[in-house]
Amino acid sequence: MKFIHLSDTHLLARDDLSRPPHAGDTLRTVIDEINEYHGDAEICVITGDITHHGRPEQFDHAVELFATLEMPFIMIPGNHDSRAPLLDAFPDTPHDDNGFINHGHTFDGIRFVMLDTIVPGAHHGTMCQARLDWLKHELASHRDLPTFLFMHHPPLEMGLPFLDSIRMDADAELAAIVQDNPQIKHMFMGHLHRPSTGVWQGIPFVVGGSSQKGEPFDMRHEKEEDLEDRAPLKPMFGIVLTDPAGNVRYHYETVQFD
Ligand SMILES: [Fe+2]
Repeated sequence: MKFIHLSDTHLLARDDLSRPPHAGDTLRTVIDEINEYHGDAEICVITGDITHHGRPEQFDHAVELFATLEMPFIMIPGNHDSRAPLLDAFPDTPHDDNGFINHGHTFDGIRFVMLDTIVPGAHHGTMCQARLDWLKHELASHRDLPTFLFMHHPPLEMGLPFLDSIRMDADAELAAIVQDNPQIKHMFMGHLHRPSTGVWQGIPFVVGGSSQKGEPFDMRHEKEEDLEDRAPLKPMFGIVLTDPAGNVRYHYETVQFD
């Protein structure tokens, strides 16, 4: 099975030209590439920061652009999003009984578990007891299926002090759940705006790039205003090949955008 991993689209309103490059234009270019070469993908998974400020007009822009994808899509919020306008704009997006945008799906024998890690008004992520309980129940209900976890915030420090200061902070609690559920085969995240891979708790993970632009690659500074943007990146997305055993091949693809 092929699926697409999109992350950190950071859309503003259609006519808002601040914060170049225009995130709508870069996303349109990315979607054109996806449709032309990967229209056979089963699903597109969007790991948060759909908008830049979580505003309804920004989600309206997302509705317009994602409607042009040739495959269905599912999403979770990032720290720049807000739950209510996301659910207003994408009313088919499931949420749990506590209002968190947690949901699970099965594609080609693999369980896709989508986790809401946001903290309204803050940039770091967390998983409160209600969300941990939801995850435990979801995993217990599909213990026989190879499982992928999707979350916006990485649960570990990546050696990038600014981004590490706004990571998902319930790492010990999540680690305990991961250790109890060996069916978890892979994790997919966003938030960093750059391609990264690694292993956490024995589970391989990838971090998707942003379809707009890279975050500064800075391993020295913790304050956002001090970051040095020495290596700007092209708009990016991921193409993922899987099989029912839970094997994963992940290709990062960039698009030309001037
Ligand atoms: Fe982001």
